Amino acid sequence: MATVLRPLVALLVLLLTVDLRDAAAQAANTTERKPDVVYVPTPQPVVEKMLEMARVTDSDIVYDLGSGDGRIPITAAKKHGARALGIDIDPKRVDEANRNAKRAGVTDKVSFVRGDLFQTDLSEATVITLYLLPNLNLKLKPVLQQLKPGTRIVSHNFSMGDWPPDQTVRVGSSVVYLWTVREGMASTAP
Ligand SMILES: C[S@@+](CC[C@H](N)C(=O)[O-])C[C@H]1O[C@@H](n2cnc3c(N)ncnc32)[C@H](O)[C@@H]1O
Repeated sequence: MATVLRPLVALLVLLLTVDLRDAAAQAANTTERKPDVVYVPTPQPVVEKMLEMARVTDSDIVYDLGSGDGRIPITAAKKHGARALGIDIDPKRVDEANRNAKRAGVTDKVSFVRGDLFQTDLSEATVITLYLLPNLNLKLKPVLQQLKPGTRIVSHNFSMGDWPPDQTVRVGSSVVYLWTVREGMASTAP
């Protein structure tokens, strides 16, 4: 290779390497974030009770944070006519939930997206459903308390620390908690 071309080729290789490193770093950000909690489905009778306690109707927008196979959003659409969004960090769960929504004939009302629930804008939701872990509920609490007054939050099995629930109902071996966001909570949330 002509001596004059060598520095140019070296520069090209360097630029390509940096580009690839950037792309890999971006991919790592989206694919290597581990789930904060493993997948365990909510039993269907508990799903029904959660949606009943939240008084879900066809004017609601239900967000299931960590949506697994999609049973909560799908039931919200099928049984209550609500629009619903499921967010899950695991792409396998998102694919499975999309297949289940198709099978249930609710793809006009329900969507599933891959994402981190802690990075998701929840401001459109009128109902939030959770089956996470106590520490994750506590981490979410200040975000949830800043949602629109009247937004209902239902959680399978886990409470929200010092935020007292409006209602607690036992279903078999599960407990369902309901909270309602009230006016002025945003100003007291840390
Ligand atoms: C216990 S399962 C609940 C599934 C479903 N909500 C239900 O009740 O049947 C928790 C789900 O949260 C998902 N998950 C864990 N960490 C997450 C995160 N940071 N963002 C979004 N989803 C997450 C897991 O992949 C899993 O599907």
